[in-house]
Amino acid sequence: MDLAPLPTPRLQECPFGPAPETARLRAEAPVSRVRCPTGLTAWLVTRYADVRDVLGDADRFSSRAGQAIHLMAHADPDRPVGVGEFTRLDGPEYQRFRQHMAPELATPKRMATLRPIVQQIVDERLDALAAAGPPADFYTGFALPVTAATIGDLVGVPPGDRELFQNAATAVFTGTTKEDLAAAVQPLHAYLYKMIVQRRANPGDDALSRMITRSAAGDRPFSDPELVAIAATMLAVGFDTTATVMSHGVLALLAHPAEFERLRADPTLVPGAVEELVRFFGGAPGIVRQVTRDTDIGGHPVAAGDYVVAAIQVADRDPEAFADPDRLDVGRRPNPHMGFGYGTHQCFGQQTARLELTVVLETLLRRVPSLRLAVPLEDVPFKTGTPVFGPAEVPVDWTAVRSATAGASA
Ligand code: HEM
Repeated sequence: MDLAPLPTPRLQECPFGPAPETARLRAEAPVSRVRCPTGLTAWLVTRYADVRDVLGDADRFSSRAGQAIHLMAHADPDRPVGVGEFTRLDGPEYQRFRQHMAPELATPKRMATLRPIVQQIVDERLDALAAAGPPADFYTGFALPVTAATIGDLVGVPPGDRELFQNAATAVFTGTTKEDLAAAVQPLHAYLYKMIVQRRANPGDDALSRMITRSAAGDRPFSDPELVAIAATMLAVGFDTTATVMSHGVLALLAHPAEFERLRADPTLVPGAVEELVRFFGGAPGIVRQVTRDTDIGGHPVAAGDYVVAAIQVADRDPEAFADPDRLDVGRRPNPHMGFGYGTHQCFGQQTARLELTVVLETLLRRVPSLRLAVPLEDVPFKTGTPVFGPAEVPVDWTAVRSATAGASA
């Protein structure tokens, strides 16, 4: 029997939502068999309660196969787990990584230190756009440089060396063969290895140095190859995801002027708006898990060894969980979305991403209240060939950019 293909977002047709047919699936066939673009056959899980069950129970649903094997051709589910490939570990092996990594990326103290750094990055980038004058592409001219600078700063990669991880990230998300991937990732690994040896000898004031020191004081310190993998993963997954949600979010706000106006009138809504944008756009590719023992999902039997795609974005539009779920509502409360995942493996970088999105929105509202789309929404191009679904360009225009301190400059 021919299986239905995995529905992935078709943004040219439906710019702010999951593929239109997912609403019917969620209502009528919430656990359905699909064929993924990589050829993998999986159960597509679309209801909020069921996705929460899958992501929240690491005993029944393992991360071992890899979270993106449904979309990334080079990621074979049966490949052995690489040294330091913590995203594919379960149980205590996984906790060994998480306990030393999470505190460096998530505590209020770390975020308070990071805020002025992000503010400076955002202001400098905005000054550069103002100097060049409108129009500009918000995605490549603002969002990508801001998020790459933030993650570079967090890990301690100096500005001149950041192209290395940008190239590696592109290969991870768009490469089709293991050879492509290796060619782009090897120079980054060689660079990181040197950097880690040097940080062991002279720890810096960055998250990686603190992870090295923290783990060295524990029972099983991270080895150098493990640290290379940790740093490479953070660098690869930490900037295009955020830049894409940022650009998609700004596009959505500019296309829904009433919501943008609500924020302009009351900037205290910004933190809630950030949650709403992550509900709308986070987790769009879905996340893969593998069933560890015969069980059921919402009463639907699944067998040990089966693959499951937890369709986070579709679940976050479930009317059972959110009133008027397809409406972008910057004042939505509560907003228990799963855009950063849910359960054991939920996003390490979520506080960093929240901080970046908050500072960016606050600054745009303060410094560029005249921000608008420079082309009709139908003319905005969307990315293809990557699991990071979002706009390829967001052409924007403005009347004036206020200086970072006050007044209007250009
Ligand atoms: C808006 C931006 C972001 C979104 C929507 C997002 C989303 C996600 C999701 C859904 C997961 C769960 C994967 C799973 O359950 O298997 C995840 C994991 C992860 N994220 Fe993010 N993320 C974002 C930004 C970031 C940033 C800025 C960083 C780094 C500072 C980061 C680092 C990670 C890491 C290391 C993992 C793997 C966690 C694990 O498997 O244990 N993310 N992210």
